[in-house]
Amino acid sequence: MTRVLHASDLHFGKPAVPEQIEAIEAVIQEQKFDVVAISGDLSQRARSGEFQRARAFLRHAQQVSKTIVVPGNHDVKWWRAPLEIGDRLGRYSNYKKYIDEELEPVLRIHGATFVGLLTAHGVSRHTLTWNVRDIGVLGALKKSQLDRAAKEFAHSPPDDWRIVVMHHNPVKGELSQRHGLRNTPRVLGAFADLGVHLVLCGHDHQEAVHYIEHTKRGTVISTAGTVSNRSRGGRPSSINVIELGERKIHVATLIWSREKSGFVAGPERSFAA
Ligand SMILES: [Fe+2]
Ligand SMILES: [Fe+2]
Repeated sequence: MTRVLHASDLHFGKPAVPEQIEAIEAVIQEQKFDVVAISGDLSQRARSGEFQRARAFLRHAQQVSKTIVVPGNHDVKWWRAPLEIGDRLGRYSNYKKYIDEELEPVLRIHGATFVGLLTAHGVSRHTLTWNVRDIGVLGALKKSQLDRAAKEFAHSPPDDWRIVVMHHNPVKGELSQRHGLRNTPRVLGAFADLGVHLVLCGHDHQEAVHYIEHTKRGTVISTAGTVSNRSRGGRPSSINVIELGERKIHVATLIWSREKSGFVAGPERSFAA
């Protein structure tokens, strides 16, 4: 069995809550997951000090687990290249310096392939919108990225679990009533064609687990809530623990308890795969 800790939107900087971060660090050291996946928004303003703290968090996790991380919209200095004019790569300079040179990492472990996809492009042509509050916030995936994901999965054994890690949620949040990602139907259709079993995402700041049915094979979407003081509707922070068993995906949400000063068991769901 493969065990994955999925957390998102840690927002190191002002929104981070030290007790919660320390509690996750303790869970990681105790449970020694095969993989710790962080689906973006490690920082609040893409500042170096925020990323340094995120780096320390990741290094600590790497003592016991493999990690995979992708950038979120807060990790991009979009003002460096609005509309992709100007210093395009400078947008990710702090992320690359402190977290990972690779913006779309691939992690292969026995029985599972994790492909990171970059959905946070800053203010780009692909995500221009009339909705002012969505400028620089909305995510997108280009066809070339999906083609690359297909190639990466094709390099793995055919019965590997196929897992995508990306920042933006492709399913509407219950409270936000918003998708994080543009062209959601197209992207979910592409994931179905790729035989993706599981998507690990965040961005909505409300945890959710969905199953998208397809004619061939369904996709489980794990949207991790935030671990910060920015949770939606004042709800507690949370993280997801995922077990990939014998043709089964089990997602358990751990919820922050102020009384216990730790994460406690929340809702669980299982899916045949
Ligand atoms: Fe966030
Ligand atoms: Fe975000």
